[in-house]
Amino acid sequence: MRLDKVLADLGFGTRKELKQLIRSGRVSVNGTAASDPGMHVDPLKDEILLDARRLAYEKYVYFMLNKPKGIVSATRDASETVLDLIHEPYRDLFPCGRLDKDTEGLMLITNDGPLAHQLLSPKHHVEKEYLVTIRKALDDQDRKRMEEGMRLQSGEVFRPAEVIPVSDHQIRLILKEGKYHEIKRMLLAVGNEVTGLKRLRMKNLVLDETLEPGEYRRLSEDELQSLRAPEDFTSSTPVSQ
Ligand code: URA
Repeated sequence: MRLDKVLADLGFGTRKELKQLIRSGRVSVNGTAASDPGMHVDPLKDEILLDARRLAYEKYVYFMLNKPKGIVSATRDASETVLDLIHEPYRDLFPCGRLDKDTEGLMLITNDGPLAHQLLSPKHHVEKEYLVTIRKALDDQDRKRMEEGMRLQSGEVFRPAEVIPVSDHQIRLILKEGKYHEIKRMLLAVGNEVTGLKRLRMKNLVLDETLEPGEYRRLSEDELQSLRAPEDFTSSTPVSQ
């Protein structure tokens, strides 16, 4: 990989800025000052120093964010996005999936496109679990409709969801798809209304409740392995109350 690309991926500047930085002699590779921005390096093996500080290059990084309400989960927007909450030097980070602006909870932020594709592809039916606060109690018929799957007047179909009652005004809902405003539209279709929505889990990755809204941390190795495991070989477990 080109030396200037490694530094750019780590967020040390634009390729143009990095060319200058490298030519100024501030970067060394395996103990020798580098002068060629196009020099080929292996960022996982070579010792690369910037101003005598060792750079730790990781191709892919994974952060669990407790998304607060009021922030959009886009990569770019006129207003603040979830990426503005991640203070890391890595470029090309993106949120894995979308949550509405007023939804809070678990959000995976990564630069691992293949894993995100695996988690988000409609083919893989990855489970997402939410704590849903509703305006009024669900009756058995509403619950049955949601559990059997429903067809809206528009013809759109929602696949069966698992409904776990928590209290009169709260349910936990497990979906295996992620359509636009799905939970809000599902509840509207049974004459109810979502007044609060929090994502608790995606596949086997459970929101770390010690994270305050807006806080994030790296995924542990175990969390990452269970996200990567093929769906057939893992048993996704609902979040215990
Ligand atoms: N369903 C919704 O309606 N909104 C979300 O943010 C997620 C699922």
